[in-house]
Amino acid sequence: MNSRTHTVEAAFRQLYGTAPEGVWSAPGRVNLIGEHTDYNDGFCLPMALPRTTLVAARRRTDGLLRLHSAQGDGRIAELPLSGLAPGAATGWTRYPAGVVWALAEAGHDVGGGADLHIDSTVPSGAGLSSSAALECAVAVAYDDLYGLGLPRPELARTAQRAEHAFAGVPCGIMDQMASLCSAEATALHLDCRTLEHRLVPFGLAADGLRLLVVDTRVKHDLGDGAYAALRAGCERAAALLGLPALRDLAAADLDAALAGLPAALVPLVRHVVTENERVTRTVAHLEAEDTEGLGPLLTAGHASLRDDYRISCAETDLVVDTALAAGALGARMTGGGFGGSVIVLVHDRLARTVTDAVTTAFHRAGHRTPSVLEAIPSRGAGRLG
Ligand code: GLA
Repeated sequence: MNSRTHTVEAAFRQLYGTAPEGVWSAPGRVNLIGEHTDYNDGFCLPMALPRTTLVAARRRTDGLLRLHSAQGDGRIAELPLSGLAPGAATGWTRYPAGVVWALAEAGHDVGGGADLHIDSTVPSGAGLSSSAALECAVAVAYDDLYGLGLPRPELARTAQRAEHAFAGVPCGIMDQMASLCSAEATALHLDCRTLEHRLVPFGLAADGLRLLVVDTRVKHDLGDGAYAALRAGCERAAALLGLPALRDLAAADLDAALAGLPAALVPLVRHVVTENERVTRTVAHLEAEDTEGLGPLLTAGHASLRDDYRISCAETDLVVDTALAAGALGARMTGGGFGGSVIVLVHDRLARTVTDAVTTAFHRAGHRTPSVLEAIPSRGAGRLG
């Protein structure tokens, strides 16, 4: 048992006066490419980070859900399962409470309740899916504790439902699938319509490369309506084109389709269709073991998010431009947008130079010092102890 698992177990004992039945973990993610394609039934290519959310849990029999987080205010939240409904939980407790509610709604017998203690190293508001990590850690814990035996895609749908109903964010399925289905040294090629997925080898170190994640520390909040507006725009465009989703628009038909759409929808559609193509091309590069070839695709993805989808910001653009000028192979914002993090693909020998250049540029522009972590493709959610 590693020391973090130990710490979480010990904290649980201290809080609840007894040992947990187990400790479960779920990672945050970065998306290599395929941004804002998931709710268009398209494709994406995320990978799990070594940053994880841990949940120590023990079942109860009295129908009470008790929640505590090492990152919270020290209080134990108590939620009777009988009154659990959207709106009944606030702040971070919405995510675990939402998962338990969604399981119950789906007809699973989870009514006994549980005590949970949560401890996370996934930064929140950084576009690295801290909320999905929390949802998925609770989902796998419940799946084990209550012997539900649910397939991972079903757990992902449950976690997504929690986020829609309890956090009010109409997110796609990428983050939850990434957290639940990723594996070490691979990226997850995901079809967001069917939830078919495949692990594609992504061996950065062997190629002398690194993937840096630069957190701009501009907090993004997808609950403020901007994300929902983008999603609604895409759905409207698909309806106008007579398609089930924008995934069904072939690249060859793009120009003709754009000619018939209202001007405001044109850039959204162009981004989604070209981004799906970039996913396919990125996977082809990985399969050909040409990791360096990913660089221009990442950078093209950023340009599309900046110019067409318009969800970049000054800080994310500054990271991309500075990293490229300092010799990075490619860079793009990752996640929902409006701040958050940028991924940078760089040769080992230039990682320090690029990091320093970005930090200096941020200081010069009067921004806060960005934090940089290395994205090592890691395992998905599961039981630790
Ligand atoms: C957020 C959402 C995901 C996805 C990304 C953009 O992370 O939770 O479902 O839409 O934004 O690719």
